[in-house]
Amino acid sequence: MKIIKTANKITTELTNKKNIGFIPTMGCLHDGHVSLIRKSKKKKLLTIVSIFVNPLQFNNKKDFKKYPKTISTDLRICKKNKVDYVYLPQENDIYPEKKIVTKNKIHFFKNYMEGKFRPGHFEGVIEVVKRLLSHIKTTYLFLGKKDYQQLIIIKKYLESIKSKIKVVPCDTIRAKNGIALSSRNKLLDQKSLNTAGKIINFLKKNKNQIIKSNRNIFFINKIKEFGANKVDYLSAFNLKQLKKTNKPSVNTRVFLAYYINGVRLIDNF
Ligand code: PAF
Repeated sequence: MKIIKTANKITTELTNKKNIGFIPTMGCLHDGHVSLIRKSKKKKLLTIVSIFVNPLQFNNKKDFKKYPKTISTDLRICKKNKVDYVYLPQENDIYPEKKIVTKNKIHFFKNYMEGKFRPGHFEGVIEVVKRLLSHIKTTYLFLGKKDYQQLIIIKKYLESIKSKIKVVPCDTIRAKNGIALSSRNKLLDQKSLNTAGKIINFLKKNKNQIIKSNRNIFFINKIKEFGANKVDYLSAFNLKQLKKTNKPSVNTRVFLAYYINGVRLIDNF
């Protein structure tokens, strides 16, 4: 496994390389990331993991500062899973200019769900993905369904630039108690993890009622009763029509964002 720390080096290393599988991450790797790596290895792709905590996608500076960093464990996980290259860019490899001006237009989730509650977040995600993809000319891009809104935004962006990159959506991996694996779970104590588990299991059991209810105040209050400090949204969305819905169907997913002990968690099912 090669560890590459600059944009120039990774670009040189990958010149003339074909069949690349790229897994962009912000580190603090867990079994969810590992499942993406395994998918890439299974396809016999030259597998590249990037680790870069992108300041541009954090609308809250404190959130950026406290984002968990576990680089030596991350490298161990990559090595164990036979990753070919780990790309660890410095901030000026990604953002060499002093003042970053982004002109990314986000057509989906504008003023809705993550787009509403994290202004500028998706613009920052697209910016970093755009720059990472200019360093890593990948064939496949592996993305987790845990961040389904992000997955849709990135797919739409790639379609809009007529990119040939094939996006591989990967299922969410869950802990035994039902919560989606996330780097942010590292910031929670056992009691909070148990609370998150109770919330997600309760919501999953009541999925159709949540979808059908126009006013899901009842469920939002329930989430708070379980111990969440705040709920940003609990919304049903049709993945095929790409719009809000109150009709249960195979394409309908419930999305939520809530806080436990000051830590913001997102999930969808
Ligand atoms: O999903 C993430 O970890 C990040 O949003 C991504 C895609 C690596 C961009 O920083």
